[in-house]
Amino acid sequence: MTRIYIQEVAPRDGLQNEDVFVETEDKIAFINRLGKLGLSKIEVTAFVSPKAVHNLKDAEFVMQNINRNPDVTYSALVPNLKGAKRAAESNVDEINLLVSASNTHNLKNVGRTTENTFNGFKEIISFLNDKDIQISGAIGTSFGCPFQGRISYNRVLSIIEKYADLGVTHITLADTTGMATPKQVYELCTKITERWDELTVTLHFHNTRGMGLANVLAGIQTGITHFDASLGGIGGCPFAPEATGNISTEDLVHMLEFMDFETNVHLDELIADAKYLEQLLGHEVPGQVMKAGKITDLYKA
Ligand code: COA
Ligand code: ZN
Repeated sequence: MTRIYIQEVAPRDGLQNEDVFVETEDKIAFINRLGKLGLSKIEVTAFVSPKAVHNLKDAEFVMQNINRNPDVTYSALVPNLKGAKRAAESNVDEINLLVSASNTHNLKNVGRTTENTFNGFKEIISFLNDKDIQISGAIGTSFGCPFQGRISYNRVLSIIEKYADLGVTHITLADTTGMATPKQVYELCTKITERWDELTVTLHFHNTRGMGLANVLAGIQTGITHFDASLGGIGGCPFAPEATGNISTEDLVHMLEFMDFETNVHLDELIADAKYLEQLLGHEVPGQVMKAGKITDLYKA
């Protein structure tokens, strides 16, 4: 059975886009629950400007006060050196660097050109040189940008090249506003896996146009085994118009488990936690399996 690694991003991608601030102690309790479900990684928070993303202003406290499961990588998004210093002081396992393939989105998101962002990454990487922190490089709008449209394969390959030149071996291709098609995922990921066999590639899909799970299968066909997803399907970038949630973790695990992939994630508890999240947020979330039940949950005739 092929093992697929499920990486949870609800505490960061999900909560950053909520209208209401989730109380710090509730976040910690939520992340502690997630830590027991067999997920391989949890993106806990983002060390960004609290003015830019108010909902994650408690990044240090959350990161320092969660219970750590040694089998889980606790990751955080970092846009600049200031964020890297805050993250390092908070004992992160992994720093997830952030740049967008689209220069327009990058300017809106982090206020710098893509080129300048990479100059900043050099400082971050030399700061992290003597620290035991894994570095991962995310590429936002890897498939399409709501301002610039489709992103060429060569553009993404050239950004991966820049990361590889800095020694970054973990890459995340993020489809920030759900513009990727399965054909595009298959073609781009084939080019990447042919060119770099030493990279660990994560795919991060938003389900904005209903193509998220189809995109996962296209990625798996190229040999990719790491996927981000968000409990209940919450999420979205506050700096992209009409952004909506990630693929839902429980829908993803449900599909994969019933296709005989091995995820190691406890599906029933995941579904229970999606319902708990809905209560925590006080509104309905997009996840489908949590509402319909699993395909093995039958009704009396
Ligand atoms: N953490 C906390 N504060 C930070 C920070 C960080 N990582 N980086 C900058 N700041 C503070 C500065 O100290 C400064 O504070 P001051 O006004 O009190 O002096 C202020 O933010 C402005 O700093 P500057 O370097 O000019 O940053 P900026 O205003 O150009 O913002 C980013 C740049 C990257 C910090 C900001 O755009 C950001 O945090 N973006 C987040 C993007 C994001 O999370 N998107 C969602 C994920 S897709
Ligand atoms: Zn995202």
